[in-house]
Amino acid sequence: MLSFGHRGAMGYAPENTVLSVQKAIELGADWVEIDVYLVNRQLMVIHDDTLDRTTNGKGSLFDFTFEQLREFDAGEGERIPILSEIIQATKEKVGLNIELKGEHTAKAVYEVLSDLSNEHKKQVLISSFKMSELQSMSKLDESINIGVLAGDSINEAFAWAQKLKASSVHFSKRKVTQALVNQAHSTGLKLYVYTVNELAELRRMKILGVDAVFSNYPDRVLSV
Ligand code: G3P
Ligand code: MG
Repeated sequence: MLSFGHRGAMGYAPENTVLSVQKAIELGADWVEIDVYLVNRQLMVIHDDTLDRTTNGKGSLFDFTFEQLREFDAGEGERIPILSEIIQATKEKVGLNIELKGEHTAKAVYEVLSDLSNEHKKQVLISSFKMSELQSMSKLDESINIGVLAGDSINEAFAWAQKLKASSVHFSKRKVTQALVNQAHSTGLKLYVYTVNELAELRRMKILGVDAVFSNYPDRVLSV
């Protein structure tokens, strides 16, 4: 069962920062997951479209210039990173799962990834709850790894995964059963589960044969 550090290693360091990603790598994560929005043509690595929860700023991301956004403290003196800084921090060390949170992120991410070698691109996974963004991404680059983040309907998630030739489907732990794991595997898909932090839950996922879990504590995944 692979370990995906959720928003870096947010159980130990401020989420979606370079520090958090470095922490996940140090703890032995196989992959790190981060979230992106496109703001003023820059891919900002942040989970919410507002500053309030994770920085010392307030208000919508879209009400600030890039220079202003970079002034805020995202925790422990970290700035809100841009995607290329996260790529730099993860390159040749760990896989990178980029979750497309905002509109128009697919094309912008595609452009950033176009500088990478084919070998490096294999270490990248693009996921989203927004099927329109995933569709744009797979049209731009047929070979990129796609992960479908499942909404309420399990069947819809599988249908989208097939249509987009995804490599994985990502479910909330609340939805995971043995039947779901079997359904994914029988259609050639990997099943990834978020967000699994407790040891008992991690053990359950392992017994069910889940392929990977997202955890705020990526070291715990490796310990089960
Ligand atoms: O990609 C897995 C997980 O991160 C999805 O939920 O809200 O943490 O981005 P969220
Ligand atoms: Mg996410």
